[in-house]
Order: sequence, then structure tokens, then C-alpha cells
Amino acid sequence: MSSAEDLWPFLPGRPTLRIVSASGATLTTDDDRKILDLAGGAIAVNVGHGRAEVAEAMAAEAERLTYVVPPWSTPSRERLVARLRQDWLPDGLERAYFASGGSEANESALKVAVQHFAARGLPQKCKIIGRELSYHGTTIATTSLGGHAARRIGLESVLQDHPRAPTPYPLRAPRELPPDALGRYYAEALEAVIDAEGPETVAAVMAEPIVGSSGGALIPPTDYWPRIRALCDHHDILLIFDEVMTGFGRVGRRFACEFWGLAPDLLVAGKGLAGGYAPIGGLFASKRVLDPIAETGGEVMFHTFGAHPAACAAADRVLDILTREKLVQRAETLGAKLAGWLEDAFDDHPHVAQTRGCGLLQAIEFVADRDTLAPFPEAAGLTRRIISTALERGVYCYPGGTGAIRDIVCLGPPFIITETELQRGVAILREAVDIAIAQID
Ligand SMILES: Cc1ncc(COP(=O)(O)O)c(C=O)c1O
Repeated sequence: MSSAEDLWPFLPGRPTLRIVSASGATLTTDDDRKILDLAGGAIAVNVGHGRAEVAEAMAAEAERLTYVVPPWSTPSRERLVARLRQDWLPDGLERAYFASGGSEANESALKVAVQHFAARGLPQKCKIIGRELSYHGTTIATTSLGGHAARRIGLESVLQDHPRAPTPYPLRAPRELPPDALGRYYAEALEAVIDAEGPETVAAVMAEPIVGSSGGALIPPTDYWPRIRALCDHHDILLIFDEVMTGFGRVGRRFACEFWGLAPDLLVAGKGLAGGYAPIGGLFASKRVLDPIAETGGEVMFHTFGAHPAACAAADRVLDILTREKLVQRAETLGAKLAGWLEDAFDDHPHVAQTRGCGLLQAIEFVADRDTLAPFPEAAGLTRRIISTALERGVYCYPGGTGAIRDIVCLGPPFIITETELQRGVAILREAVDIAIAQID
């Protein structure tokens, strides 16, 4: 008989935890320790753990219909698409393709962008521009496009080159620029990349509208996205928003793009779509983007488990709960309170550069020197220390940063978490931060 340690992890010797059940915002370990899940797993769990009605919907669907090949339709997929169109998706993005998660859905978005121009007789329009701080997934293409240094290690020899523009990062923007000049500054930087590549060779810009864990809830200046939207329209470039982390209420709106009153040409979502109950990612597109592919006999190849009936049933029920319990509004109001508690707990901290975020996606950035914003040495492993110290005290937070901008801790709790739980979590996190910094100071 194998021991639990022998069965997992994949890479031997890595610390892991054994979780045997979960309810609300609490995880239970095999030795009956309770852990407050301030990260919603990988910032995915929105309606909370252990919702019987979601499990029942999935079980009923699995009993009725195990699996069908994805090009065929099923009632659970149709219900989900109808609900998405009616209550969730930005106007015009009415076509839905389902994959098994965010990476696959992003990869599909890249392919659709390239196929779109090929179908229009413009195969030279095939470059995808990414941004320096970003994460789009774990496939070779999405890792290539992303700007996540740590997740590229050991893969450099096979990663493709993509042009990248700077990610708006108000905290670390050139200090001589006034805040109201930053939107233009970063938009012009992206425009310079398009110009250098030649707009006639660029198919798409892919970006997280609010950067998730890689940048730590980075919110761009208000005029940045409207400028980029106009730039893309001007050059016939598709704008792809990766809302895998920010979508379905996480930032206190259905999608982050609502903050700027604009829609991308391709919208990608994952995580919150089924709230952690089932592996599913979505790619949403307009007919304008898809028609040329359809008209020229093209295909968008399916993933075997795309639009899996039980996953569609889970997503349909999770979205129903979000609406019924007004949880997107709750993410906004509770998020504002959380932002205030984080500010109270950390703003006077000598090693905190900033607390920031939107809705229930919040982050704290740590630095060795608050004036110069110089980071702690990489070898100090501050983020790792904070996460593990908090975990020992029963609170789970999500590690952020990309390796280059290292020390960021993210919070992305379930939307049903109570105020008391959040306040307790923040107090324990503050304790953990002090202990971790004292170990390396
Ligand atoms: C913004 C963003 N895009 C893509 C992904 C990849 O999604 P998945 O892990 O479901 O493949 C993630 C995952 O963290 C993400 O945060």
C-alpha cells in the first residue's frame, strides 16, 4: 500500500497539504485543521465550497448524459449559453466555445485570431502582442505569450517569441509623470510596439484588463483601455481580454471590461465560470470575428472534454447562484471593505509598497525599501515565507508576482466569506508578514 506522500506530489520533496473536505470559506485537512481560504483555491471559488445544489446538478447531469463529442449540443450546454447571453456576456459576444480551463480557452482565442485573418486572405497578419507582466496559461503558446518569468524557467528553448508591451503599473511608473499622463504613456508604449512590428502583421493584442496574480491586481489608468480599444480598431487588430481570473464577478463587475464601458473582440474566462466545481473555460466571440472562418470552411478544433455536460450543468448552477444571491454586488461592497481593512493593517508597514485591488481581487506588494521600491533579495523567498507562515496559522493566501517583481501576496476569497472571517484573516496575515520579514531582515 502506498503512503500519501508516495502518491503526491508529482515532483518529489515538495511540501503539500492534504485537504479532505471544504465548506463555505473553510478547508479541512486530514488531521482536522481548519484553514480559512482567502484565495478561493487558485482565485476560482466564488460561490463558496460545498454547495450541495451544484453537486446535485452535476450528479443529475452525469447520470443523464455522461459525455458527448463537443461539436454536438446538449441541453445543459444550451441552458448555459442562453444564460450567459441573457445575463452575463458583453453585447455582441454571443458565440460561446468551451474548453477545460483557462489555458485551453486562451490558446483557442489565439488560434481564432490567427484563423480570422487567414480566412480573410490576410495570413501575414498573424503576430500576437502580449504584455511584460502577465499570465495566460501553461501551454507552450500561452506561456510564450505571457510575461511570467518564473513559469518560463527551463522552457526557454521551446518558447516562441512574441512582441510585448509594458504592463501599466502606476506604482512603478516613471516618477516624473503625473498620474493623469500615465494612460497615454502606456498606450503610446503599446502603439510603439505595434508600429515597430508593422500593424499589417499584427493579428491581436492579448491582455488581462486587470492583471491577476502575476502583477498583483494591477489596475490600469482609466483612459488606458479606451485608448487601446481605439488603437486596435484603427489598425484592424483584435483585442483579446483574458478575464480568466477577473471574470464572473471577481472584481465586483460581471467582467472587468465593464469598468471602461467597452468590450474586447474575444473574451476568455475560466475559474469563476463554474466557481471551482468543474473544469471549464469559455471563449466568447462575435459573429464578425467568426463568420470569415465559417464562410471559408474553417474549424475551431475542439478539446475532447470541451463543453462537458456535467461541467456545463455546474457552470449554469453557479451562475444562477451568483445572480440569485446578488454575489457580484457583494464582491464589490465586501471588496471595498476588505481594501479598507488591508489599508488599515498594512499602509504604515515599512515594507509594504502598496495595497491595491478591485472587488475581491486584492493584493499587497512588499519591498525592502519603500522609497526606492527595491525588492527583497530573491533568495530570501519572502512571498513563500509569508504564505507558509500564514498557512501554519490557518489562513491561505495566494502567492503573486512573476519572479522579477517578486513579493506580492494576493487575496481572492469566495464571495460568501463573512466580514468576521475576512477581518480575522487580515489580522493573521499581518502577524505572518511580521514574522516572515523578521526572519530575513
Ligand atoms: C489570467 C489567467 N489566465 C489564464 C490562466 C490559466 O488558466 P488555467 O490554469 O485554468 O489553465 C490563469 C490561471 O491562473 C490566469 O490567472
